[in-house]
Amino acid sequence: MIQRSQLDLRKFVTPEFICGHGALRLAGRYARNFGMRHVLLVTDPGVRAAGWAGAVGESLTEAGVSFTVFDAISPNPRSRQVMAGKEAYLAEECNGIVTVGGGSPMDCAKGIGIASSSMRDILTFEGVDRVPVPAPPLICIPTTAGSSADVSQFAIITDEERKRKIAIVSKTLVPDISLLDPGPLTTMPRELTADAGMDTLSHAVEAYVSNASSPMTDVHALEAIRLITSALPAVLEEPDDLDLRFSTLLASLHAGLAFSNASLGAVHAMAHSLGGAYDLVHGRCNALLLEHVMAANYEAASDRYERIGAIIGRGESTPAEKVAVFRRALGVTETLAEVGVREDAIPALAEAAYNDPCMVTNPRSLTCDEIERIYMHAF
Ligand SMILES: [Fe+2]
Repeated sequence: MIQRSQLDLRKFVTPEFICGHGALRLAGRYARNFGMRHVLLVTDPGVRAAGWAGAVGESLTEAGVSFTVFDAISPNPRSRQVMAGKEAYLAEECNGIVTVGGGSPMDCAKGIGIASSSMRDILTFEGVDRVPVPAPPLICIPTTAGSSADVSQFAIITDEERKRKIAIVSKTLVPDISLLDPGPLTTMPRELTADAGMDTLSHAVEAYVSNASSPMTDVHALEAIRLITSALPAVLEEPDDLDLRFSTLLASLHAGLAFSNASLGAVHAMAHSLGGAYDLVHGRCNALLLEHVMAANYEAASDRYERIGAIIGRGESTPAEKVAVFRRALGVTETLAEVGVREDAIPALAEAAYNDPCMVTNPRSLTCDEIERIYMHAF
């Protein structure tokens, strides 16, 4: 069992944020307040096509701030995309970054910021507290309710050559302000809504059982679990309902505040490994792993898992079984084999997961063999 004391020294880092309908339209005012003259507007083609990058651009123009759009970003953003963004930032003589999108543009924007200020390759920042120079001012406007990159001190970037994801953890990655608006969430397709929601649930569960959890992070983790498990099934039925979308955004905010300060665990370590090797959707990887990691970890934090189970639903089943029922009800029903994972790849996946920084705060230490067995349960 983990021994925690509320008297342990803890730090809690959070950005300034504004949440509510219409928050996106404040982008220009805040860019001007931060002294931005020319902005790199970081987004992706889907968000641009949905009109949200244009709406942010209008707000910037109204405030007298010029901008250059950078949208050459894929899901699971690559290191070369970050470095191309850094070149654009420098060539266009930008002095601030505004990003509108899901976790991929936001993580890429964070990477562009630190790569530009330190003039270094993004892959050299891997690990905890390895960013020596502060990034330029950053405004985040999320268009999904899941990644929580808009409040976290994390950025996850894919190293294409090594086919793995690196985690960069630094206070310098916390945005200067995040504008949390439910409007942009309404254009998320159903599958992405479900995957992003399962990412939120995974963040909250992992933060709550993390061996770096604290009373400050617990309250946010539990509220995130309550909000996402009640709002997510409903929002899939009513995708245009702004109140329901806002509940999922609040859940993502609470989960982000929790995990940014308590870190994560084996679900994310194993999802990063899968996403790096197979370029799979991050939230889907978490969704397929969460219940199996909960079962493997249960004895190390049984009280905490039982509390999670009690929030998710009544009945005699285990917390892991309740999560399994929940995700199947969302339509997330595949196995790892069905999403293309090969059985003979599992030892290498387990080794990468074992070395992921998120594994450090898992409530129990897992061997490579144990990690392989968890992958096999999800297989
Ligand atoms: Fe995540």
